[in-house]
Amino acid sequence: MTTNLPPASFTAVRLARYTKTELSEIVGDDDDPFGVSEAGLTWLPKQEHFGIRLGGRLVAHTGLLPVPLSVGSAETQAVGFGGVVVAPDLRGHGLARLVVTSALEHARTMGPQYGILFCRPRLVPLYQRLGWRTLEGDVHVEQAEGPVIMPLRTMWTPLRDGAQWPVGPVRLLSFPM
Ligand SMILES: CC(C)(COP(=O)(O)OP(=O)(O)OC[C@H]1O[C@@H](n2cnc3c(N)ncnc32)[C@H](O)[C@@H]1OP(=O)(O)O)[C@@H](O)C(=O)NCCC(=O)NCCS
Repeated sequence: MTTNLPPASFTAVRLARYTKTELSEIVGDDDDPFGVSEAGLTWLPKQEHFGIRLGGRLVAHTGLLPVPLSVGSAETQAVGFGGVVVAPDLRGHGLARLVVTSALEHARTMGPQYGILFCRPRLVPLYQRLGWRTLEGDVHVEQAEGPVIMPLRTMWTPLRDGAQWPVGPVRLLSFPM
């Protein structure tokens, strides 16, 4: 069932707390809300959280975490975006756009030149519409057993004017976020 949205405009806010309780406020008891469990990866929790509330209920979220990476021989940092989710009954109303954009504004103050995220191929057009670009080529990420090839698509966005993604193989020097 689709919820009727009130005419009031939504605002994304920084969340003081984001745990499984808040995630289930958004998605209910879905045990694979991001559809990535079959990839079998271990993910890092995010450090900063942005959300949208509707009548006291949390209905959307995006998390941020600075992550180290290497591109070719250069080591750098990026702001990792993850946990992007909107309540199933409120999808298609621009809430992902709003919460990701708010998180992006904050990410621009965090220092790194790039934002990075991993997503299923079918969501690439969504992030492209929000200004993200796809990284071609294999991206390695850390897992308990050592580096593995990320099976999802990797996308990046500049956090500073004129930032260009460096040339070379990309390796996340941490678990993915
Ligand atoms: C993916 C998800 C967050 C999108 O939320 P949403 O609130 O419906 O998205 P929005 O309405 O803000 O859409 C943002 C833009 O992406 C487009 N879009 C939305 N879903 C899309 C999809 N599945 N494929 C392609 N484009 C899509 C919209 O048309 C919109 O473009 P526009 O603003 O230029 O018109 C939501 O479907 C969700 O929570 N899915 C489950 C969790 C998940 O997969 N998260 C992604 C982890 S990387």
